[in-house]
Amino acid sequence: MKKYTDIKDIANLSEIIQEAIQLKQNPFQFENLGTHKTLVMLFFNASLRTRLSTEKAAKNLGMQVMVLNVSDAWNIEFEDGTIMNLNTSEHIKEAAQVISQYTDIIAVRAFPSLIDKQKDEQEFVLNSFIEYASVPIVNMESATAHPLQALTDAITIAELKTKESPKVVLSWAPHPKVLPHAVANSFVKMMQELDVDFSITHPEGYELRGDITKGTPINYNQKDALKDADFVYVKNWSSYNDYGKVLSEDTNWMMTKEKLGKAKFMHCLPVRRNVVVEDAVLDSEQSIVIQQANNRTFAAQIVLKKILENL
Ligand code: CP
Repeated sequence: MKKYTDIKDIANLSEIIQEAIQLKQNPFQFENLGTHKTLVMLFFNASLRTRLSTEKAAKNLGMQVMVLNVSDAWNIEFEDGTIMNLNTSEHIKEAAQVISQYTDIIAVRAFPSLIDKQKDEQEFVLNSFIEYASVPIVNMESATAHPLQALTDAITIAELKTKESPKVVLSWAPHPKVLPHAVANSFVKMMQELDVDFSITHPEGYELRGDITKGTPINYNQKDALKDADFVYVKNWSSYNDYGKVLSEDTNWMMTKEKLGKAKFMHCLPVRRNVVVEDAVLDSEQSIVIQQANNRTFAAQIVLKKILENL
């Protein structure tokens, strides 16, 4: 694997899922693969799971890890040809090349503005690192994608499914803040690649990007969509068409035990209790969010392993 910025970088999905499940049984099986190799993780935004699980994954492979909260460094300029006489001190052209000299892999987290749709869709932060760095790039959640989370979700479903083609529903949830589309986008793309009966439910106006959801059924009736589901993945996202707007905080869309039925409850975390999902779900055996979070390590580890093998 040359990089991991989108799930399309995975050559053989079913194989990588099974390899990740095997790694989970023996996480130190390849503890010498990363000897004398370094991972730099750059955070333009906050993280709990991605930060700790990716560091743990790298260390399981014997790698050294350096973490930089980018807000602690010089402000980076991403525009080409800018007269840098304002707040930015260092251009991405130098920054990416310099960081590349210190490390073998660069992982980047950079959320969207949710104000400038065109700029967000260009993935200017992630793509600038791809363009100017001389080492492989890993996406730790960008403006439009969270492929490590999606691989985690696929691993979790593979581990827990009790039928060949389970019914999986992505269900929008209310949230007081404006949230990105990245998790939902990557989850949709991942489910389209798996042998699952997949559909999406959300209020009208919350349609995700049409070229991503193409071919996937969308049902505006949540109750109807959730009928007989095996896995329900709950997530908020802001409007895509009315870009970055919260159109509805309709509490009726919160996930409840009654609506969940017999399905397993999935969420990428962090999650707002009794806004996105009621306590009775999160505190029940049907919630698999902790197992999901644990699988973040093995998703990251299999990705780093594949990249290390290609260095
Ligand atoms: N799910 C996830 O990416 O969590 P963090 O934002 O805490 O990394």
